[in-house]
Amino acid sequence: MERQTLIQAAIDALPGAYVPYSHFHVAAALLCGDGTIYTGINIENAAYTPTVCAERSAFFRAVNEGKRHFEAIVICGGKDGMLTDYCPPCGVCRQVMREFCDPATFRVILAKSQEEYREFTLEQLLPMGFGPEDLQ
Ligand code: THU
Repeated sequence: MERQTLIQAAIDALPGAYVPYSHFHVAAALLCGDGTIYTGINIENAAYTPTVCAERSAFFRAVNEGKRHFEAIVICGGKDGMLTDYCPPCGVCRQVMREFCDPATFRVILAKSQEEYREFTLEQLLPMGFGPEDLQ
């Protein structure tokens, strides 16, 4: 049930993607430890490099609001907003997840619809990642 709610939140956010250059819409829905959900969309830029991914949009919204504990993220996306394939998170977004999430338990859910999804732990997507504890 919780997974279906999160998938729907990501799908609902998809039309808000600001993608005048790639036309590749991405949306994410991030579940916080307290049960709240933050969505994010990709926001592109005429200078290209300032573009921010949907996953980081969601994380930075939540972190700005004081959230520090996260359970799962749903990601969906595709050309012209069509969810024909899974949209895996880029390496930079995986690293941002690594900053705030337990790699063994944080779930990354790639969704095409309520029925079609694949679920991974962050550890599966970013093995032997560099995290805050490495600076201790
Ligand atoms: N994008 C995301 O939003 N998340 C990802 O993890 C992969 C890529 C966006 C960035 C850019 O706006 C578009 O998809 C094409 O790369």
